[in-house]
Amino acid sequence: MAFPTLYFFSTKPILSMYFFTFLVLPSPFISSASKLPGGNNETDKVSLLEFKKMIIGDPFGVMASWNETIHFCEWHGVLCGRRHMRVVVVNLTSLKLVGLVPSHIGNLSFLKALDLQNNSFSGDIPQTIGHLHRLQFLLLNNNSFNGFIPSNISVCKNLQVLDFSRNNLAGNIPSEIGTLTNLRFLSFYHNNISGKIPHSLGNLTLLNTFALSFNTLFGEIPDSLCRLSELQTFIVFGNNLSGTIPPSLFNHSSMFVIDMGGNHIGGTLHPNLFLSLPHLLYFSIYGNNFMGSIPVTLSNATQMQIFGVTENKLTGKVPNLGKLQKLQKFLVGGNHLGEGNVFGLNFLSSLTNATSLEVLELAGNNFGGFLPTSITNLSTNLIHLSLHTNQISGNIPREISNLISLQTLLLHDNKISGEIPPEIGYLGNLRILFLFENKFFGKIPSALGNLTLLLKLRLGRNYLHDTIPASMGKCQNLELLDLSYNNLSGYIPKEVLSLSSLSIALDLSYNQLVGSIPKEVGYLKNLGYLDLSYNSLSGPIPPEFGSCVSLEMLNLTNNNLEGPIPSTLANLRAMQFLQLSHNHLTGQIPAFLKDFKLLQKLNLSYNDFEGAVPTTGIFNNTSSVSIAANKKLWLRRLRKGPFPNLIENPILRVSYHSLFKCTNGFSTENLLGVGGYGTVYKGCFDHDGTVFAVKVLDLLLRGASRSFVAECEVLKNTRHRNLVKVLTACSGFDLQGNDFKAIVYEYMDNGNLENWLHFNPQENSQIEDNRRLSLVEMLNILTDVACALDYLHNDCEPAIIHCDLKPSNVLLDKSMTAHVSDFGLARFVQKRIESSSSDNYSSIGVQGTIGYAPPEYGMGSRPSKAGDIYSFGILILEMLTGKRPTHELFQDGLNLHSYAKAALADRGVEIADPKLLQERDEQIQMCLVCMIKVGVACSVEFPADRMKIRDVVGELNKARKSFLK
Ligand SMILES: *[C@@H]1O[C@H](CO)[C@@H](O)[C@H](O)[C@H]1NC(C)=O
Ligand SMILES: *[C@@H]1O[C@H](CO)[C@@H](O)[C@H](O)[C@H]1NC(C)=O
Ligand SMILES: *[C@@H]1O[C@H](CO)[C@@H](O)[C@H](O)[C@H]1NC(C)=O
Ligand SMILES: *[C@@H]1O[C@H](CO)[C@@H](O)[C@H](O)[C@H]1NC(C)=O
Repeated sequence: MAFPTLYFFSTKPILSMYFFTFLVLPSPFISSASKLPGGNNETDKVSLLEFKKMIIGDPFGVMASWNETIHFCEWHGVLCGRRHMRVVVVNLTSLKLVGLVPSHIGNLSFLKALDLQNNSFSGDIPQTIGHLHRLQFLLLNNNSFNGFIPSNISVCKNLQVLDFSRNNLAGNIPSEIGTLTNLRFLSFYHNNISGKIPHSLGNLTLLNTFALSFNTLFGEIPDSLCRLSELQTFIVFGNNLSGTIPPSLFNHSSMFVIDMGGNHIGGTLHPNLFLSLPHLLYFSIYGNNFMGSIPVTLSNATQMQIFGVTENKLTGKVPNLGKLQKLQKFLVGGNHLGEGNVFGLNFLSSLTNATSLEVLELAGNNFGGFLPTSITNLSTNLIHLSLHTNQISGNIPREISNLISLQTLLLHDNKISGEIPPEIGYLGNLRILFLFENKFFGKIPSALGNLTLLLKLRLGRNYLHDTIPASMGKCQNLELLDLSYNNLSGYIPKEVLSLSSLSIALDLSYNQLVGSIPKEVGYLKNLGYLDLSYNSLSGPIPPEFGSCVSLEMLNLTNNNLEGPIPSTLANLRAMQFLQLSHNHLTGQIPAFLKDFKLLQKLNLSYNDFEGAVPTTGIFNNTSSVSIAANKKLWLRRLRKGPFPNLIENPILRVSYHSLFKCTNGFSTENLLGVGGYGTVYKGCFDHDGTVFAVKVLDLLLRGASRSFVAECEVLKNTRHRNLVKVLTACSGFDLQGNDFKAIVYEYMDNGNLENWLHFNPQENSQIEDNRRLSLVEMLNILTDVACALDYLHNDCEPAIIHCDLKPSNVLLDKSMTAHVSDFGLARFVQKRIESSSSDNYSSIGVQGTIGYAPPEYGMGSRPSKAGDIYSFGILILEMLTGKRPTHELFQDGLNLHSYAKAALADRGVEIADPKLLQERDEQIQMCLVCMIKVGVACSVEFPADRMKIRDVVGELNKARKSFLK
């Protein structure tokens, strides 16, 4: 008997860590039958059979048991009362059923609980539900129901739990729901419900959970809700609510969670707000119009764990937080807090008692005065410290090195001066260090080279001088380095240009750098943006530039460079903005520039070019090219257009016609595969022979348009060597005038991982016969995928959840480097304030792929990093065992995870794919065991227990190192 089970409730991942409600059905099975309200046990059977008829998808085959050979009370998910043999429970939760619910459901007149959550039921919720007078539990959440909330649900006076969350319901909340006075749990979140919150809901005085987030409700929160004296959880995040908070809405000591983020609510917070809430542990009003100060009684909220008021108009002081010892996240960025004076940050010393503090967000306020030394006594668990965009002066204390867990330190856009303390080099976990737009002077400490995990370093717009330390070359994970607008001198260290991890930007502009550009620049194969302008660099443009094939923006303006533009630059076909003006460059303007299809701006002015100017391609467009002040050119004066600032990366467009041509009219010979939302073809641009893969979305499929938007959004905002690179996208019309959407990717010579793991000679023309992945290759591929996930989860803002990681979405290039692809299901999660994650594509639940999707998604949990980790764990285990998670072996509770886990305990490497064990070498075995352990630790059932991706990367790197030794 599975029902009632743990009932997992949450609108946001952050909440899911704290809240779940056990709903125990009050023994309906032994309740006595009163007078039959109509019908008999035959009616029930007929109704159930009608219900079965409407189910068109049943992947687990459970509905087969609804047949005449056994009594209907024995059918799967059906439970009858003992005496009267009438159906009291129908529980078909999480069976991936597809279908409609027929009106006959209303004839099950003894029904107390109907649980269809986590399936794909669609259509209307039948009005006949109103015939079910005895219904106590109605769980239809996480399906695809549309239409309206049936108003006659109000007839079901015994209802205690009503959960319609995560559907596509529209219309208003019927005011009749206010008559369901036994209701304890009301959840309609994630629908398209609009209108106002009815006053009548104030009559639901037993309610403990009120969850209406992610709808389009407007108007005020009605005063009447103040009567909900049992309320524990109040969540209305992500609507269009306005007005103010009714004065006594939260006067109930029962409150645990208050989340009103993402609305237009204003007014002030009552000074005594937190006096009456002794249990409150989550409070968020993120992204509203609140004014006034943070109530001083926040000092009394001793249970608070997450406090988020980011992006409002709050002013004044932050109260003393000395008693909030459980605080984990304190988020007050984007307000007008602090009065610009020395007292504003005094509260920081009271935060030193909060030993679990992980996130402190104070950016974008009016905090002034010196940076207090008390920040060095904050929790050693602190991961994220952000004070940027304030008026803070003073120095960074040397003891900053106490904050050993720190991964993000954002102090930019202040007035901080002094030297950058070398002790920052002890913060070995730092990933992001932003100190730009301050008044730092002195040298760049060479100890920064010890920050080997550093991904982004920005020290631009300060007064730093002396040379760039060569030790920076040790930061082998660096993706972004900005030292622009300082007084740096000397040569560009070749060690820095050898950082092939640099992918986002390298900006050394506006300094006094001299010498020639080292030929090591050719290592910057992944770099998109390179700015060396406004220095005193001399010598030629090295031909090695031709290896920087990812460059989209190159600025060498205002130097003393000489000689011709090297012919190797013809390789830089991704180029969009090329600026070489104000140098002493000579020779002809290379003809290949006219073939750069993506080039938007070209500035060659103030040089000594000679000869004829090409006339086609970009040269056709006078506003895009500047060639002024080249005396020997056959002049055509062209206007100068605006150039982009740091890191603008628009996705460019290609026409239907050119895609049609390049794929031989989307011919079957060019077909690479068919995915969830579309078909992938191979193509070749005829102007330069670039081979690409293009995914043409099948727009008739539900969700396809959304997946296109999601994928463009992700790929526009990301850049990493282990993510598949998008070249361009197309959104237009086909020859018939139908909508046409397609995404063009870099072509991956070695296909997808799925094909390598489950070799099938007929299908895999791309793979040489009998070629299998070696253990080292596997280890490399896994490390690549882990790095990509780490980047998506921890370095993107907002963080990105892939939601569909599996071998067929891991592509392999010529050198067998792995690139994660297919972001059609991806979700953004605000990192700065994870507590109020908003979801741009919220209306459809995540399904993922059977076998790889974590169990909690099936229970309605929101996409989470832990969910991706689960999929990754399964991928690891599949790779090592050679068995798919859907292998026939895995049933009756045995799955890939438990299989691998059990094997670890007794048989060790015996479960590994025998092909891997051909060399029975001890090193190989140790390495295998280590990888299986990681796979097992990633795929444990409970999300919070799974490994974190950072630790996975660490373990895989360790394994790789010891193996290669
Ligand atoms: C219906 O109930 C009657 C009386 O309790 C019983 O005799 C009969 O077998 C039941 N039929 C079914 C299909 O359960
Ligand atoms: C009817 O259900 C029983 C129990 O699940 C099953 O064993 C039997 O095969 C089913 N019969 C048919 C015809 O599907
Ligand atoms: C609440 O219930 C009372 C009595 O049951 C009724 O008179 C009143 O109209 C209801 N309030 C709302 C707002 O529906
Ligand atoms: C609230 O906190 C303040 C300051 O710590 C204290 O003086 C006051 O007694 C507290 N009030 C309650 C009701 O706990």
